[in-house]
Amino acid sequence: MPNSNAATNCIVNPKKVAPAAAIIFGATGDLTHRKIVPAFYHLAKNGLLPDGFVIMGFARRPKSDDEFRKDLKEALDKFSHTKPIDEDVWAKLSQHIYYFQGDLPDAESYRKLNEKLKGLPEASIIQGNYLFYLATSPNYFNIVAQNLSEAGLATGSPDQMRRLIVEKPFGEDLASAKELNKSLQAAFPEKNIFRIDHYLGKETVQNLLYFRFANSIYEPLWNRRYIDHVQITVAEKVGVEGRGGYYDTAGASRDMLQNHLFQLLTITAMEPPASLDAESIRDEKVKVLKSIPTPRPEELAKSAVRAQYGGGFIDKKAINAYRQEEKVSPNSLTETYVAVRFEIDNWRWAGVPFYLRTGKALTKQFTEINIVFNRPPSVLFAAAGEAHLRRNSLRIRIQPNEGITVNFNAKTPSKSAAQLVDMKFTYQGGFTDYLPEAYERLIIDALVGESTLFTRSDETEEAWRLVDAVHAAWDLQTVENLPLYACGSMGPVESDLLLERDGRHWVSPKD
Ligand SMILES: NC(=O)c1ccc[n+]([C@@H]2O[C@H](COP(=O)([O-])OP(=O)(O)OC[C@H]3O[C@@H](n4cnc5c(N)ncnc54)[C@H](OP(=O)(O)O)[C@@H]3O)[C@@H](O)[C@H]2O)c1
Repeated sequence: MPNSNAATNCIVNPKKVAPAAAIIFGATGDLTHRKIVPAFYHLAKNGLLPDGFVIMGFARRPKSDDEFRKDLKEALDKFSHTKPIDEDVWAKLSQHIYYFQGDLPDAESYRKLNEKLKGLPEASIIQGNYLFYLATSPNYFNIVAQNLSEAGLATGSPDQMRRLIVEKPFGEDLASAKELNKSLQAAFPEKNIFRIDHYLGKETVQNLLYFRFANSIYEPLWNRRYIDHVQITVAEKVGVEGRGGYYDTAGASRDMLQNHLFQLLTITAMEPPASLDAESIRDEKVKVLKSIPTPRPEELAKSAVRAQYGGGFIDKKAINAYRQEEKVSPNSLTETYVAVRFEIDNWRWAGVPFYLRTGKALTKQFTEINIVFNRPPSVLFAAAGEAHLRRNSLRIRIQPNEGITVNFNAKTPSKSAAQLVDMKFTYQGGFTDYLPEAYERLIIDALVGESTLFTRSDETEEAWRLVDAVHAAWDLQTVENLPLYACGSMGPVESDLLLERDGRHWVSPKD
């Protein structure tokens, strides 16, 4: 029986949002249209935003407030994950939406922005509480923080809210991430900086903490004595789709491994925190990364696989080979696929490999964590031809078809043979509650100052240390081409060999 929750909103956060203005830098861009505005709309629809909550868009092109509202409504109609749009909710929200035309590097724009904010009809309600959202290209992150500081916008009086949300990518290597941390922290205290990794906003990722620490059945098994290895996969079906300019400078390791995959790894592997407060949880996550020694280049030559997609078809749609994509160098050595084996050198995990993989133009779009247990002893069944019983595993599906599947050996009817069968929980079947989008959860948390689901500065730096090591190893290799994999496959043969060398194989994706 599905559980139902009578409460209208299910984004659990007991703190109340104070009246405020969210100032979005990059307000005419794709992210604002696709994610940020639908998130604010759903927060308003669920009664989570106070009356008079202001959204101020900041971008370069000229636009009136009404034109901006119209653009956002079109975006909402297109990208909202619930339909139809509640026109009354939108009408109420949109009357407090404004547009400011400014130039990000121009200090004068911020002085004028300050004046505009102070002169708003809602100024006496929002009382100088501002949430700044950096939805711009990352090369502006520094300068916006600095300009906000110089205009007196980054710090208010002690009872005023001044917070900064920063989008990914956060730096392009350890040195640039440190530099960025330094300049953001010169403008805002660390507790007011909210680095987004939208994976942390996903209900299924948060559920991992519940699954591990709110149950007594799995935690005793969650260690090197019972677990053979762990696999984490973030598979994308799409190619670079017009983002070739950015992607060719980043690749799968910087675009996905440094953030989403390491976030999933730390939550899977962390020790129970002392409490559920932000710092206790983030301390434990950082400890996991610190327990991964920087691998040597000769190790990584074997344990880090990279590849590019060749051309082909996915769902009958032709996809160019990566090197033929728009804005990608024809000699590009940027990887669209990466698979890496890491080990966490601590008491719980020593000797348990964690295999991480991510790629574009793969068979299907899905994210999952597979916990693969030790092989059961076959003493009883060997005589019946079952010399190698198959391993139990836990499939934690982050998206889509969110849920958890346990599999175990069962007797095949009428035969003396074991067969793996599934015991399955799905979010859709288990709950009827509203499943919020990640950005809804993250924005509400930033508004109430709850930073558990945001990445701390030391966490980003530790993750970069490992990604930098992978790149340093690759840079030592003289290659003219990367291995290719077919569009619509699950990656290159080298990735399969990475596990086969250890006597293992990738768990094949299911729906
Ligand atoms: N799009 C996504 O789904 C997505 C997902 C995850 C993370 N992100 C991250 O989010 C950020 C924004 O991405 P996006 O895809 O939304 O980019 P985008 O579509 O290119 O939008 C860029 C925005 O920045 C504004 N802008 C650029 N230069 C400016 C300047 N000098 N002064 C004022 N405004 C300026 C643009 O305004 P004008 O066009 O009016 O100049 C536009 O509103 C990036 O860091 C990206 O990595 C995006």
